[in-house]
Amino acid sequence: MSFFEEKNPEMDRYLENHASAEPEILKKLRRETFQKTTQPHMISGYQQGRLLTIISKILQPKNILEIGTFTGYATLCLTEGLSKDGKITTLDVNEDLAYLPKKYFSESEYSHQIDFRLQDAKEFLKETNAFFDLIFIDADKENYAEYFRLIKPRTKSGSVVMFDNVLWYGKVLEEQPKQKSTQIIKELNDLAAKDDDFENLILPLRDGINLLRRK
Ligand SMILES: C[S@@+](CC[C@H](N)C(=O)[O-])C[C@H]1O[C@@H](n2cnc3c(N)ncnc32)[C@H](O)[C@@H]1O
Repeated sequence: MSFFEEKNPEMDRYLENHASAEPEILKKLRRETFQKTTQPHMISGYQQGRLLTIISKILQPKNILEIGTFTGYATLCLTEGLSKDGKITTLDVNEDLAYLPKKYFSESEYSHQIDFRLQDAKEFLKETNAFFDLIFIDADKENYAEYFRLIKPRTKSGSVVMFDNVLWYGKVLEEQPKQKSTQIIKELNDLAAKDDDFENLILPLRDGINLLRRK
């Protein structure tokens, strides 16, 4: 559920009815996420999932990074566009829930291209020397500004970066927010807009996606 879905469920249904079909494995995963997890609203869901797939198919990336696997919905959407020899590294810290993405990754036709790691994203980013063609960040909002600083050296010309939930249910409009996560998301959006090495746009889909491309 998002800021926009709450405001106009009828329009949301229309958008879903006029987009490409959701693959069967994702329908199953979505259902199980709602049955088995306490915060199913965290899932990327249908519309955002199709956007991730289309962007991935346009880029045909060799190397994708996802921060925040949750049950693996967005991971599987992103895999659809991977080049034949490409791979996706997806990170999460929730050990209790790891059985769910593991189950669906092993069922996926792209299982051999998915590297699922239970590792803190900051730790991973400080260790890795890899460059990524596509990075999707959908994790702890309090670290969004830090993630921006850490991922920048891991991008090259043409790399695409997507940060989810950057409208934060509309709270980014608060001038002096008390909530730490709102402050940091505002900082991230400012950093992205001011960094001359990237071009960017905030897509008002669901809770907002900051879409950046390294020049
Ligand atoms: C909103 S959910 C991700 C949703 C997922 N991308 C999807 O589309 O279904 C956020 C996830 O980030 C994970 N997370 C939180 N802090 C993290 C960190 N420091 N490193 C890696 N993952 C983290 C949480 O455990 C949670 O599963």
